[in-house]
Amino acid sequence: MKLKEILTRKETRYALEAHNGISAKIVEQAGFEIIWASGLTISTSLGHRDCNELSWTNVCDIVEYMVDATNIPILVDGDTGFGNFNNVRELVKKLSKYGAAGVSLEDKTFPKTNSFLPHFQPLCSIDHFCGKVKAAKDSQSNDDFCVIARTEAFIVGNGVDDALERAHAYIDAGADAILVHSKKEEISEIRSFVDGWNNKAPLVLVPTTYHTTPSKVYEELGVSLVIWANHLLRTSISAMRKAAHSIYQECSPSSFHPQMTSVQEIFDLVNEPELKKAREIYESK
Ligand code: SPV
Ligand code: MG
Repeated sequence: MKLKEILTRKETRYALEAHNGISAKIVEQAGFEIIWASGLTISTSLGHRDCNELSWTNVCDIVEYMVDATNIPILVDGDTGFGNFNNVRELVKKLSKYGAAGVSLEDKTFPKTNSFLPHFQPLCSIDHFCGKVKAAKDSQSNDDFCVIARTEAFIVGNGVDDALERAHAYIDAGADAILVHSKKEEISEIRSFVDGWNNKAPLVLVPTTYHTTPSKVYEELGVSLVIWANHLLRTSISAMRKAAHSIYQECSPSSFHPQMTSVQEIFDLVNEPELKKAREIYESK
């Protein structure tokens, strides 16, 4: 299903994070209909911090691998757009060309920092961000591409009135949906936003800190898309640490062996059987 349809349907859909070709395949094979190309996890997987240390072309290159590896829509975390409206235009042109389904842009200033870090990050003005949203919509190369406007009003300690004012302006500027972020451990801020929103446009949430919220609550609130934003990377870091520790301590991978993916599974993940068939057709004996 296209991202645009996912956003406009009544039911809540779920996206899971991926940060490279293989994690994107794993998300798709698990049954998810949409992949979140997370800025945090792409940066971390390359050994960088989530504060625009990577360039926009670094991110686009990773997204290209993820698109090539899968057949479901990929929503890309575009941070603040890597600069001004002009950087946003370049980003959106490249992402649409590479086959991404959409981009999320947030209303902080460049360079951004991750929403869960304690230092203060100013928001840009509403007008400034509306210019970026318009520039993004005017630069997409196909009608299905979605621009999701993300407000960080709650993250910087502003109240629901600021979050709602911003969200209304971003939709009026052309955004296809609003991502409203919160770092509370329960869903109270989001509820207050939904109460004042009156279903004006589709809503997207990232419940990293309020992950214990039952999924029926998202349905009741009419949320279109819930993003599990960093969970595969966090899981793989735990697994890699355990493996590295065990292999180092024992000078051998043998005792960790049963917990590891087999080499055969790796071949299956990258579809070796397809290459075998292709050889029979194309390769001279
Ligand atoms: C990301 O996954 O990079 C996000 C979500 O933007 S968060 O880390 O919650 O800001
Ligand atoms: Mg991010």
